[in-house]
Amino acid sequence: MAEPTFRAPKGTRDILPPESARRRALVDRFAESAGLSGFGEVVSPLFEDLGVFKRIGEATDVVSKEMFDFFDKGNPPQHLALRPELTASICRAYAEHRPVPPWKVWYEGPQFRYEQPQAGRYRQFTQVGVEVLGADDPQADVDVIALAARFFESLGLRQVRLKINSLGDASCRPAYLAALTDYFTGRLADLSPQSQETLERNPLRVLDSKRKEDQAIIDAAPIMVDFLTEETAEHFAHVRAGLESLGVDYEISSRLVRGLDYYTRTTFEFAAESLEGAQNAVGGGGRYDGLVENLGGPDTPGIGFALGVDRILLACDAEGVFTAPGPTISVFVVDVTGGSQALDVCERLRRGGIGADRSYGGRSMKAQMKVADRSGAPYAAIIGEDEVAAGEVTLRDLRGETGQRRVALDDLVSDIRSLSSTEKEK
Ligand code: HAM
Repeated sequence: MAEPTFRAPKGTRDILPPESARRRALVDRFAESAGLSGFGEVVSPLFEDLGVFKRIGEATDVVSKEMFDFFDKGNPPQHLALRPELTASICRAYAEHRPVPPWKVWYEGPQFRYEQPQAGRYRQFTQVGVEVLGADDPQADVDVIALAARFFESLGLRQVRLKINSLGDASCRPAYLAALTDYFTGRLADLSPQSQETLERNPLRVLDSKRKEDQAIIDAAPIMVDFLTEETAEHFAHVRAGLESLGVDYEISSRLVRGLDYYTRTTFEFAAESLEGAQNAVGGGGRYDGLVENLGGPDTPGIGFALGVDRILLACDAEGVFTAPGPTISVFVVDVTGGSQALDVCERLRRGGIGADRSYGGRSMKAQMKVADRSGAPYAAIIGEDEVAAGEVTLRDLRGETGQRRVALDDLVSDIRSLSSTEKEK
């Protein structure tokens, strides 16, 4: 094949059938799970004022290095950015519309981050997620985490590990940050140059370094849970007890700091053990009690998560679960009359709610049967001159199970329906 003139931009991909059907099925499954927990869908813009995302925290890589930002054609131009995530957009929407709390919403859609592409890391990727705004109760944390855990389970994934931590809040974080800064500063010369630089911007993020030379230092660093006030420690204890009462397995990961700066108290991440270490986070989330206020709204607690659809599908491949749904076509119409019979029969079937397809261009019976076999449809409805004269079609079982027989055109829809329901019962 000749080299194409254009390719999808670096870090983006075309998702073609049947993979696209699997992705759609995954999003539908998520919508169902979220609906069962009382969440309604929010559809928000793919781009926002850059300022919205800056509130995530200017020291995070997502904001300082990975934003797709641009100026519109207005006078004066507005500085906009493609969304790198949805939590900030949802909080902006909450501050704008002031719905009655608690506001429970779910979402799905593409996010954009200018990252170095590799397996499981893209510049355009899809997330599904939920946010609960206006609930401070630790049971909201439990509900949210359990929803994600149940969703992974429903896909058939068995090798997804839940890690949780508490990052404290304004009442305890400063003391921890001071202790952490002191600790790392005392070992500055032994830290990697990257972590030395991170330390200046945000000492918490040093804990997230994956560099070998940093590991021993990080392992011995002070941990947040030792600095929690009584209130935040109690919140964390309630979350853990709630997860245990629901039978949701977790491990406490005191180094879990997450890549975004808005988190307070409960934070969590789901890691797929079947994937490569650096890209094995299939989802993450936590509390962000100050974000709505930061975006100009009322003081509102919030908690939520986002799951990476692309990575979840990779994890499903690795575990051999959640395969692509079967074909949606039940009948392939083979018309050898050279006329427009296929048009009429397909229309009849489709109006009757039965998936039907056909070939174009008046091809030979053999050629049409080949396409019918490839279509995955269980039946072919064959129309020749004899069938037309009798007002019938020949219905052939393409899997070779029940042979073939003549069916009156008027009975075709009900016939296929009863065949499908008998098959479902089997
Ligand atoms: P995040 O950890 O940045 O959190 O992203 C959530 C998930 O999106 C990741 O665990 C990963 O599966 C997927 N993901 C992130 N970046 C990429 C990428 N470049 N390529 C493929 N997948 C990726 C958030 O976005 C927060 N908004 C989550 C949240 C919601 N926190 C509270 N509410």
